[in-house]
Amino acid sequence: MITVRELHKYYGAQHLFKGINLEVQKGEVVVLIGPSGSGKSTFLRCINGLEYFQKGEIIVDGIELHSINRLTPGKKDMEAIRNVRLKAGMVFQQFNLFPHMRVLENIIEAPVRVLGLEKNTAVENALSLLKRINLEMKVHSYPGELSGGEQQRVAIARALAMKPEAMLFDEPTSSLDPEMVGEVLSVIKGLVNEGLTTLIATHEMGFAREVADRVVIFDKGDVIETGPPDEIFANPKTERAKTFLSRILS
Ligand SMILES: Nc1ncnc2c1ncn2[C@@H]1O[C@H](COP(=O)(O)OP(=O)(O)O)[C@@H](O)[C@H]1O
Ligand SMILES: [Mg+2]
Repeated sequence: MITVRELHKYYGAQHLFKGINLEVQKGEVVVLIGPSGSGKSTFLRCINGLEYFQKGEIIVDGIELHSINRLTPGKKDMEAIRNVRLKAGMVFQQFNLFPHMRVLENIIEAPVRVLGLEKNTAVENALSLLKRINLEMKVHSYPGELSGGEQQRVAIARALAMKPEAMLFDEPTSSLDPEMVGEVLSVIKGLVNEGLTTLIATHEMGFAREVADRVVIFDKGDVIETGPPDEIFANPKTERAKTFLSRILS
């Protein structure tokens, strides 16, 4: 479903990714962990076409993103970015809901404007998504009237309304109060159990252990280790992985 091959990414003079690779199969759940600043967000943003990269290739369900060395992307590049975003939905740490729109409008905006769905159909879909995340009663609320956990659940519903083939989550619970982490993780768990291809950066190690088919450890822009959670957590092979895990699990 997702292939990243020999990815190189620079931020100015900083050579962050020096040729990293990752394959994600359809239905697979891959959890990205690693210290802050190790490149997890940048990696997810590259896959979603939110960041350009300078070398390598990214393929999402057959759509290819190419490296861009010039400042302005061409028409073909823009089309690929647009198509990749239709394939892979993304949820951010900071929810990013449209603050001036009610919950319902947040969810139907892109299906109507981008997919050209009939408004009635989009509303029906939105209501069934809200039911699924237990927020039917908030359909007419503004994001500012919701708790962080509720806003993040709406952000997930908004991404799902586009019927993506895969979901990318960038630390979806990191800005939540502790008592709201569970409700968001449980929504994500539901999606994962339905077989949605998922890539998720998180510091929730218990969750990683529970849902991941595979864990990938980032450090300083490198993928330093990858494997099933049981193996990675019990038996890390590299010194760098051991150091990171002992710090986070202690
Ligand atoms: N927009 C940006 N401009 C310049 N440097 C950036 C930008 N975003 C991230 N970086 C740098 O790239 C590195 C990886 O950051 P990031 O992908 O946010 O890591 P993580 O999500 O693992 O914390 C860091 O050194 C960070 O400072
Ligand atoms: Mg990050």
